[in-house]
Amino acid sequence: MDSPREPLNKDQSENAQLDLAFIKPDSVYSYDFFDEYGNVILEAHVPFSDSLLKHLKKDNIKYLYYDPRQKKESEKSGTALIDEKLQQETYQNARDLLDYVRDIYNYSPEQGLSRAKIEKSRELVNKILVEIEKNEDGVFNPLVKLRDLDEYDYNHSTNVSILGALLATKLEFSRDIRSAMGLGGLFHDLGKTSIAKEILSKVENLSEEEFDIIKEHPHVGYKLVENNPHMHELEKQIVLLHHERADGNGYPYGLDSDHYANRVPKEVRLMSLCDVYAALVSKRPYGEPFSSKDGLRLMLNMVYAPFKKVYHFLPVDFRDFIRALGFKLDSGSFFIGPGDLVRLDSGEVAIIEEMNKLYPLNPKIRILTNKDKQPLKRQVQIDMLKNYTSYIANVFEKKQKET
Ligand SMILES: [Fe+2]
Ligand SMILES: [Fe+2]
Repeated sequence: MDSPREPLNKDQSENAQLDLAFIKPDSVYSYDFFDEYGNVILEAHVPFSDSLLKHLKKDNIKYLYYDPRQKKESEKSGTALIDEKLQQETYQNARDLLDYVRDIYNYSPEQGLSRAKIEKSRELVNKILVEIEKNEDGVFNPLVKLRDLDEYDYNHSTNVSILGALLATKLEFSRDIRSAMGLGGLFHDLGKTSIAKEILSKVENLSEEEFDIIKEHPHVGYKLVENNPHMHELEKQIVLLHHERADGNGYPYGLDSDHYANRVPKEVRLMSLCDVYAALVSKRPYGEPFSSKDGLRLMLNMVYAPFKKVYHFLPVDFRDFIRALGFKLDSGSFFIGPGDLVRLDSGEVAIIEEMNKLYPLNPKIRILTNKDKQPLKRQVQIDMLKNYTSYIANVFEKKQKET
């Protein structure tokens, strides 16, 4: 059994008290709650269940404690884009949906998705869209709390759904497409519920056979939705094609670069970026999340492999993704900035001198070397907004400054 944690603050006067008499079932807070000995009773963003409240009452516990500074940490990132309660409701729905689909795979593979389940999800996505429009300046905070592998899938689907809806809204796609990207995000990994948990939780040492099973999940999910009259074609394509990549290394088809742009709709390609981003910034059973900034820098470096001269994602898609979400994902600051060394797709190396607020991937830069890494005698300044012929292919990690 875990030994009790030290209370958050040694000085109890800094901890605030919550009177349980006033807590209604399903209330959600931004704090971790502790008992008087410092044991965690409930983590932030998890609702108080009826049974937990009854249990506490039975144990004669009248107060829980929390550290008010915890809230301040999360407030630093600005107003939340989605109301916590709605985010929680979406999470619960993702949970119901994935459990329901797992049962279908286990017990009645012939059965399709019920209309009621789809409509419930669509209703939630519509609520999310209303929130997004209402909180235009809000910042997206992914759900990252995680206790076991199952929660990763629920969290992940919720995050991809909200990101898809947000991206579609920011890019001013039609209402139907916004809703389809939100729903597609929620449904995109349905096929994973058919895979044994032992395989899903393995990160390393997957055998070839096991990796082949994982690679089947888009197709397996698609089989479930393919003929469903209550889903839109785009939603089905998101399920089927979200792991295709521009360099031909994706799955299930491994479409090559010629076919990728034609066969995979723009909206699905954007959902792939949401999927990757959500995975990077989430806590997984096997690893800590990247910060938004580090996740985006990593993604930028993923778009194009300069030595192989292949595109993993299309630069234009990443540019749209960043143009729409760059600020939303990074607490109002850029993930690259003045002083960063970058490599252009031409091979030239440059330093960022000034950012462009609306187009973060089109800053003013100073070219330092030619494509053969030779320093230029006369350094040239370029405004990338006016020069669309080149784009940033890599950002170099900053070396630690010597003290
Ligand atoms: Fe997937
Ligand atoms: Fe995914």
